[in-house]
Amino acid sequence: MKTTIQFLGHNAWLVRCDSARGDSARILIDPFLSTNPIAALRAEEAEADFILVSHGHADHLGDTVEIAKRTNAQVVAIAEISGWLQNQGVAHTQSMNLGGSLLLPFGRVLMTPALHSSTLPDGSSGGSSAGFLLMLNGGTNLYFACDTALFSDMRLIGDRGIHTAFLPIGDRYTMGPSDALEAVRLLRAQNAVPCHYDTWSIIRQDAGAWKAHVEAQTTTKVFVAAPGAAWELD
Ligand code: NI
Ligand code: MN
Repeated sequence: MKTTIQFLGHNAWLVRCDSARGDSARILIDPFLSTNPIAALRAEEAEADFILVSHGHADHLGDTVEIAKRTNAQVVAIAEISGWLQNQGVAHTQSMNLGGSLLLPFGRVLMTPALHSSTLPDGSSGGSSAGFLLMLNGGTNLYFACDTALFSDMRLIGDRGIHTAFLPIGDRYTMGPSDALEAVRLLRAQNAVPCHYDTWSIIRQDAGAWKAHVEAQTTTKVFVAAPGAAWELD
């Protein structure tokens, strides 16, 4: 099958791709749905084989516990969050840490650094914040920066060759538009998709203006996805 991406709003994504098991894999990233004002999917309708959680903040951890219990999805998260989820009764977790990778049926997941804090809803520590590089079986690399400031090691992530980079542009809690343009320069991805903006008025941004700016100054193509938009990768 072709790999498809759906933007579910904020930093929630659904990736569908081939699995080595002969079926397809549904990978849900940061499923913040039930209290997300721009969510494109109801939490109780979410289906997943894998859930990737970047950090402990409620706008990323979201409905992970409920969805994982209902769907029996495996949850991939940093060690502190994996342990916390086990304590919440989530049966299948894959614990990892920054710089480590994990081979799953759809490809390899590399946990990338992110410059951001991470506290869980009950105030306990979520360890470090993370991003994810998905190296799919077919050779397509997808980089989810998740919540982060700009950091120069994005150049090293870019050295792996990125098909699409998913980058926050909202400012205030993450990179804003000008630092996200610098991130595009470091990553050299074929495509970039902005996220983590317009969820609330305090992170409102002009994504169309960002697209024009990035495409005028780099060779990266920008796709501005409305919540709910789904597309196939070429
Ligand atoms: Ni956060
Ligand atoms: Mn966030």
